[in-house]
Amino acid sequence: MAAKWLKNAVFYEIYPQSFLDTNGDGIGDMEGIIRKLDYIKDLGCNALWINPCFDSPFKDAGYDVRDYKKVAERYGTNDDLIRLFDEAHKRKMHVLLDLVPGHTSEEHEWFQMSQKAEPNEYSDRYIWTSFCFEGCPGLPYIGGESERSATYILNFFKCQPALNYGFLNPDKPWQTGINDPAAIATREAMKDVMRFWLDRGCDGFRVDMAASLVKFDDEKKSGTSAIWKNIREMLDKDYPEAAMVSEWSDPKLALRAGYDMDFYLSHPGNAYPTLMQDYGRDPNAPDNSYFKKDSDHDITRFLPEYLDWYEDTKDIGYISMITCNHDTIRASLHLDASELKLAYAFIFTMPGVPFLYYGDEIGMRYQFLPTKEGGYFRTGSRTPMQWDNSKNLGFSTADADRLYLPVDPADDAPTVAGQESDPESLLNTVRLILKLRHKEKDLQSDGPFEALHAVKGEPFVYRRGEIIIAINPGTEPAVVPVDIAGKTPLFTIGTADFDGKAFHIGPQSFVALK
Ligand code: GLC
Ligand code: CA
Repeated sequence: MAAKWLKNAVFYEIYPQSFLDTNGDGIGDMEGIIRKLDYIKDLGCNALWINPCFDSPFKDAGYDVRDYKKVAERYGTNDDLIRLFDEAHKRKMHVLLDLVPGHTSEEHEWFQMSQKAEPNEYSDRYIWTSFCFEGCPGLPYIGGESERSATYILNFFKCQPALNYGFLNPDKPWQTGINDPAAIATREAMKDVMRFWLDRGCDGFRVDMAASLVKFDDEKKSGTSAIWKNIREMLDKDYPEAAMVSEWSDPKLALRAGYDMDFYLSHPGNAYPTLMQDYGRDPNAPDNSYFKKDSDHDITRFLPEYLDWYEDTKDIGYISMITCNHDTIRASLHLDASELKLAYAFIFTMPGVPFLYYGDEIGMRYQFLPTKEGGYFRTGSRTPMQWDNSKNLGFSTADADRLYLPVDPADDAPTVAGQESDPESLLNTVRLILKLRHKEKDLQSDGPFEALHAVKGEPFVYRRGEIIIAINPGTEPAVVPVDIAGKTPLFTIGTADFDGKAFHIGPQSFVALK
């Protein structure tokens, strides 16, 4: 069963490097997050996910952890993070940290010990073959870098050696089973990391590459799932209100493995990109997203996959829809403010627990930039938050050339201050939708969902309990093709009205009726 506080949770994802710099060194910090808690709460988000903020050489923006139990100096101290937990709790907000269980930095002490020629407690903490020239077919590996005569497996970039959680069917001398002592030791070490932060006030974790623990023979993920179930047992016993969200994008597996929530990610092949990023890996390719006003508006490219996942998992946990994240191109690259309003109104009125990526509430723009800290194309979605029109758009008092990344140079770069006073702004629209979600129980995480009308090129209509929602993303007015007698509008973007016979919805409009 998912943690109770998730019923009405709306998350705000913070990339700490780029949120708010309070000591003028050009990089965001814990104090910056603390100072903006009221802003986040007022926006309608009552929970945070903070990208990795731990000691790291930052070859993958902190997803290469050198010390799981130490806040990176550039963000502050452990005490600052604990203060953030306390300040959040005072405001009835919750905070998830980012747990990276599949790999560490090659500079982590465990790996430094593991690569020694002399066998020691950490020799099998990572996956090593038996000989300096023996690789592992099917998995990336590195040789020639260690004292010990062996190669080691990578989990992602070269700087990220894979931790050893064992193999489902070990068939090489160097492969341990998932219940062998070395594999159990890795799992226990990760539990120890979790306990460390949970004991200090953290409310749970977003889990990086959650499906990656057991390697290639785990197609059905039974090995990886068994490990997560074991970890869940610890949480249920000692931290029953802790929440876990997985980077897995297979809720049927993830929620059964003990996760409270699983992200619906814009992975190639998933239906999610058809909503707002329908251009594959090439940002310059044409975009046929459902929410683009000139697309073919085919919600049936999304719905079957969603319904299959939702029906199968609605009693055990939540699917988490995102506006974007630190790995994805911001939707504002192709969607204008009116298109974004409809996309967000949809995401925030769907079941499950939604996540808003910092800056998406003002439509911050994707920047074409050289890579930073292993970001590559992702770097352009990680630029500093745009607060106001002061120096560096209010992000930092440092000289512009010292900033973690440049701020949006456009004269009309959107800012929070600039959108505050405009009732029609994206920022204020997000506030209104989230207010509605908090007010109407049916719109919350576990409220019911039913698609009422889903036909290509026609308004999409769905029911959330007593509330009926219609969306018309196109440029022509339309008749809502569902009987909504007796209902009156609660919230509208664009126009919607009843002419005595039929309910009409204007172009690029959204209406929630009760
Ligand atoms: C996840 C993170 C991504 C990181 C990778 C390796 O996909 O979201 O940012 O680079 O894992 O840890
Ligand atoms: Ca700083």
